[in-house]
Amino acid sequence: MTFPEIIEQTFAVEGGFDNAGLVSSQVKAFLTGHNLPKDIIRRVAIVTLEAEMNICSYAHRGHITVRVLPHFITIEAIDEGQGIGDIELAMVEGYSTATDKIRSLGFGAGLGLSNMKKFSDTFRLISEVGKGTRVKMLIHIPREFHPPRG
Ligand SMILES: Nc1ncnc2c1ncn2[C@@H]1O[C@H](COP(=O)(O)OP(=O)(O)OP(=O)(O)O)[C@@H](O)[C@H]1O
Ligand SMILES: [Mg+2]
Repeated sequence: MTFPEIIEQTFAVEGGFDNAGLVSSQVKAFLTGHNLPKDIIRRVAIVTLEAEMNICSYAHRGHITVRVLPHFITIEAIDEGQGIGDIELAMVEGYSTATDKIRSLGFGAGLGLSNMKKFSDTFRLISEVGKGTRVKMLIHIPREFHPPRG
């Protein structure tokens, strides 16, 4: 019996803006060369950038793990940070607690979480105030890009 290949990589994300955006470009490079459609890579890059920016903005540190399975890709962002007290409110488009510093960098429109939900097929967020936040997303790979059964 052969087991499907699972490819995964974990990227560390530091709080603050010194390296903001680095991980999502590394994830994009990691996915290139795996016979994935451009649209799927684009969606993974969007949700990864939003997750990364939220760690940079609202957490001390975190990491993002990307797994490529035969039929789908998962993106999991886990951080140690302030956490989210009211998840429903945080999900509202336009709601943001971004500081002036974050806004001066062009972020803080309050659209990151809703974009993550919009561009993924499954979106789950759990959080504990004062501890941290965990976002897990899944994006299906279209059938014509599934590896041949062997
Ligand atoms: N990882 C996180 N840890 C703590 N709080 C978070 C985290 N992610 C989001 N939040 C809270 O939820 C709010 C909404 O997040 P969202 O990503 O939707 O918008 P934003 O980061 O404020 O702006 P944008 O993503 O459009 O630049 C944030 O302003 C913040 O208060
Ligand atoms: Mg955001």
